[in-house]
Amino acid sequence: MNSKNQISIIGGAGHVGFPLGLVLSSKNLNVNLIDKNVEFLRKIKSGRSPFLEEGSDKLLKSVLKKKKINNSTNLKDVQNSKYIIVCIGTPVSTKLNPKLYSFLNFFKQLKKYLKKDHIVIIRSSVYPGITKKIYEIIKDKCKNLSYCPERIVQGQAIKELPNLPQLICGFSVSSKKESMFLFKKICKKIIFTEILEAELVKLFSNAYRYIHFSISNQFYMICKKENLDFEKIRKIMRDGYSRNTNIPKSGFSAGPCLLKDTMQLSSFYNHKLPLGHSAMKINHNMPKFIVNELEKKYNLKTKTIGLLGLAFKAETDDIRDSLAIDLKKILEKKKIKTLVSDEYYKSKDNINKNVLIKRSDIIILSTPHKIYKKLKIKKNKILIDIWGFFESKKN
Ligand SMILES: NC(=O)c1ccc[n+]([C@@H]2O[C@H](COP(=O)([O-])OP(=O)(O)OC[C@H]3O[C@@H](n4cnc5c(N)ncnc54)[C@H](O)[C@@H]3O)[C@@H](O)[C@H]2O)c1
Repeated sequence: MNSKNQISIIGGAGHVGFPLGLVLSSKNLNVNLIDKNVEFLRKIKSGRSPFLEEGSDKLLKSVLKKKKINNSTNLKDVQNSKYIIVCIGTPVSTKLNPKLYSFLNFFKQLKKYLKKDHIVIIRSSVYPGITKKIYEIIKDKCKNLSYCPERIVQGQAIKELPNLPQLICGFSVSSKKESMFLFKKICKKIIFTEILEAELVKLFSNAYRYIHFSISNQFYMICKKENLDFEKIRKIMRDGYSRNTNIPKSGFSAGPCLLKDTMQLSSFYNHKLPLGHSAMKINHNMPKFIVNELEKKYNLKTKTIGLLGLAFKAETDDIRDSLAIDLKKILEKKKIKTLVSDEYYKSKDNINKNVLIKRSDIIILSTPHKIYKKLKIKKNKILIDIWGFFESKKN
């Protein structure tokens, strides 16, 4: 039986589904998080967030206390909901094409439990045209399909969701109206679009960010060749010159979304996306570039290298597609003694950051977690700060 207050979120223990579930349930809506990840669901049930997400611990405790959030591993449980929000992953293959088969197959499974008055909302970042294909799969059971892409930055969803305009498009008047009704509860502004427009808005946004970051990484490489400090040059570029205000810092541009969505876009355009491919080449080459630069100056076989940070970006414990991990693998393959420390991601070889600094000859800041600002690194250590994080302390 469908109840107006019941929402199922599939992928509800994930980085998109979990914070969305928290925010919706905090608006007095009953939310069921459906996920295959039993361990994450167990954590959520016990009041602990499965990963770092600002503000989530407090909100989770409050919605658990009010009995507004449940969880389940059984897709069949969508039958008890009115709204079904799909937040599962949309990865690309090693050949950089989207894995459409498993995504479409998921909707074939979901279809078994759909009824005509369900509202199905796709939240994942999808390959353009896929929403229409999904409609073709489910339409004889349910015509209410919307695409409402998630646009938060990972780790900040609870803060961002109320402030970001929500894009809504769909195949029926009901799907658009009901999606608006739902999202109006958590955000102020709704923007209606065509389906292909929303699919492209999402991919263009991530590809734009990824390409944007690669520009600074390319400049960083040029500076290194000339023994110059890119962060100092960037500061001068922006000083009183508003046209350069938005130039980003250099750094490891990685993670599960930016590259993946750039490649979804490339695949959609028959892999004729030279900007996207150049960005991938530049960004992905950063770890190798750093090791090559170090090898030009030092005999690395006699040095211990310490990697400060393993997560793909600051203030997260997520190592998915992290370039810090790539860097670690390169060093280990070359049999260079490598130590690692991360504030939030704890692997078995994780050591304390101060111990790492003490024991390393070369310290590479691979993830700029804020807490590292307070570190005291002696002048006799070689510090590689690709992020322009320590600025004056830089080597
Ligand atoms: N991570 C982000 O910040 C972000 C932001 C915007 C959009 N997105 C997009 O949202 C989607 C999800 O990304 P994510 O980072 O949350 O991924 P994630 O891996 O953190 O979460 C996906 C969750 O779905 C679950 N899952 C997968 N298949 C399932 C199934 N058949 N049944 C039940 N559960 C299933 C997984 O166990 C996992 O917990 C992707 O398309 C991504 O590109 C992500």
